[in-house]
Amino acid sequence: MRSLSCVVALGVAGVSQPAQASPVAQESPASRTSYSYGSFSYTQVTSTRYATALSSPLAFATPFAPAFSEASTLLPSNVTYTTYALLPSQTITPDGQYGQSAYAALWANLSYTSAPPFTTTVTPTPVPSSELVYPPTLYNRIDYADLKLPSDFIWGVAASAWQIEGGLQLEGRGPSALDTIGAIQSNDSSSDANIADLSYFLYKEDIARLAAIGVPYLSFSISWPRIVPFGVAGSPINTEGLQHYDDVINTCLEYGITPIVTLNHVDMPLSQLSDFSTLSENFLYYAKQVMTRYADRVPYWVTFNEPNIGVGTSFSSWNDLTHVLTAHAAVYHWYKEELQGTGQITVKFANNLAVPLDPSNSTHVDAALRYQDFILGIMGNPLFLGEQYPSEALNTPNLNLTALTPDQISTIHGTVDFWAFDPYVAQFASPAPAGISACAANQSDRAWPECVATTMIQADGWLMGDMSNAYAAIAPQYVRQQLGYIWDTFNPSGILVAEFGFNPFADSQRDSDAQRYDLERTLYYQDFLEEILKAIHEDGVNVIGTLAWSYLDNNEFGSYANQYGMQSVNRTDGSWSRRYKRSLFDYVDFFHEHSA
Ligand SMILES: *[C@@H]1O[C@H](CO)[C@@H](O)[C@H](O)[C@H]1NC(C)=O
Ligand SMILES: *[C@@H]1O[C@H](CO)[C@@H](O)[C@H](O)[C@H]1NC(C)=O
Ligand SMILES: *[C@@H]1O[C@H](CO)[C@@H](O)[C@H](O)[C@H]1NC(C)=O
Ligand SMILES: *[C@@H]1O[C@H](CO)[C@@H](O)[C@H](O)[C@H]1NC(C)=O
Ligand SMILES: *[C@@H]1O[C@H](CO)[C@@H](O)[C@H](O)[C@H]1NC(C)=O
Ligand SMILES: *[C@@H]1O[C@H](CO)[C@@H](O)[C@H](O)[C@H]1NC(C)=O
Ligand SMILES: *[C@@H]1O[C@H](CO)[C@@H](O)[C@H](O)[C@H]1NC(C)=O
Repeated sequence: MRSLSCVVALGVAGVSQPAQASPVAQESPASRTSYSYGSFSYTQVTSTRYATALSSPLAFATPFAPAFSEASTLLPSNVTYTTYALLPSQTITPDGQYGQSAYAALWANLSYTSAPPFTTTVTPTPVPSSELVYPPTLYNRIDYADLKLPSDFIWGVAASAWQIEGGLQLEGRGPSALDTIGAIQSNDSSSDANIADLSYFLYKEDIARLAAIGVPYLSFSISWPRIVPFGVAGSPINTEGLQHYDDVINTCLEYGITPIVTLNHVDMPLSQLSDFSTLSENFLYYAKQVMTRYADRVPYWVTFNEPNIGVGTSFSSWNDLTHVLTAHAAVYHWYKEELQGTGQITVKFANNLAVPLDPSNSTHVDAALRYQDFILGIMGNPLFLGEQYPSEALNTPNLNLTALTPDQISTIHGTVDFWAFDPYVAQFASPAPAGISACAANQSDRAWPECVATTMIQADGWLMGDMSNAYAAIAPQYVRQQLGYIWDTFNPSGILVAEFGFNPFADSQRDSDAQRYDLERTLYYQDFLEEILKAIHEDGVNVIGTLAWSYLDNNEFGSYANQYGMQSVNRTDGSWSRRYKRSLFDYVDFFHEHSA
């Protein structure tokens, strides 16, 4: 029902009116005023629909955990709460393991070309209604209007701390594993992250804009090194970091948005990288600090982002996955059993499903299954099924993956309340050129250890769909298969699509009006979401929500040109102003149209 998201146009297009004040729920199709000019007539189709703001504030009937006053007894009693400041002119003098100089020394090898142009929280400005006018109607789209989504469907948008915050060295933050990207010393010409979208100071504006256009869920991540600058258990806690995310959560609620919080999105404290055997202890120490404080107001938690593809980037060995599983399980058990939280916890996986290139060729089927074992079974087996690591992985020579003990499996099994993954697109699998077993035995083979060749070109030579700048494609034909594979293989209670998105080819080179009219991104989302409707209604898969990546263009791990945003960010106007793109209107509209 489009009417749910409509408001009546109250004035001449272009005249500013506060959108929040507009009446809701009255039918108002795009305006079609007809004009006659004697020799021809012309129907104007500019829109008079405006986005509908969320109602606010948001209050939960019952908190999801005890208030901090009660929960604080679960924290160690000897923690130092402090804050640090990085002063470039400061003389470094020895001042102990966790003194101000020790903090400065953490940053000894990292400096940046750019400095944030402002360093205090910006007060949000109300979004003028001229920005909330709907784009031209999508014509002739297939529309499964009779298929509805459950009223508790979790729909919203996502981003991660390092990719949007900026201010890497401000307010006591410690260095993270990602901070070398674009740092002067790394000399790699990547965009530095010291400014990014300045969301560390513009978060109120970001949240206000999402509320004004009507997005009910926001998935964001907490920067672990902002809370624990030195990264290790027992080291000081940065109070400015704690206050920051407390206010992010409160601001969400104030505007009517439900927060979904990820504890770690790739940006681990730098110190963690040298020894993952301490991960569980360090991660739990950090998680306790934030969960005792915020868990009363947060219904959904994600421990780690995409650890299943972290070997070779975040992690140096396959056995580090055991440390991740153990750390995740430790937080889960502590949250449920000690804190007695009633929210839900998961870990989210990367997955670009590989389907057999030639389904009639058994070696291609084997390759696809082996690929899924490496990317999903590796963590899904113990977490969801209480099973050992896949034998395909354990039996790969030199992978050095140690089988889990029965004790480890029983600790890990069931520490996930639902399945969460990021299925941007699918791909086709066939054996690596040398063949799977020869490749598996040869650590020098480029395809080792998966030993699967993947491609997005079908067996008949056609691409599977319209390509983005990176790897996503508009390929709705695989969405249901992807969800079905998870549903049938891991038997989760529900599936959350925790990220999906599209960055149009050469998007950043187009002028700003063309970027704003991002039809390809809209087509990607509409096609993907319509297949989700079918997965729910025709396949019986319990899809519980979708979170679009991303609500604004951001730092795609060293590039501001790989734009996934449903809003643009102006990096030259001094205020890093945001602008809605058409895809965000269309995304919101989809859920209004399909709400039960
Ligand atoms: C804090 O207490 C714990 C538990 O008693 C102990 O293991 C740890 O060493 C103490 N940390 C500091 C910094 O004193
Ligand atoms: C900085 O780099 C030097 C030289 O590579 C190294 O010895 C030192 O450990 C580094 N410091 C930090 C804090 O990473
Ligand atoms: C950085 O790159 C420049 C230009 O290519 C080169 O001359 C310089 O040696 C590099 N510096 C480091 C530290 O690698
Ligand atoms: C099956 O796939 C393999 C590997 O791509 C190939 O060598 C073989 O010829 C294929 N078999 C058939 C019957 O197409
Ligand atoms: C596994 O261990 C062997 C022997 O120590 C070593 O040569 C090999 O590089 C290791 N493999 C990986 C993936 O670390
Ligand atoms: C292992 O792979 C490398 C790289 O492709 C190749 O040069 C080498 O011949 C392979 N070794 C064997 C024993 O097949
Ligand atoms: C950014 O803002 C400046 C100043 O308002 C404007 O001139 C420029 O066109 C904007 N850039 C984009 C890409 O919108």
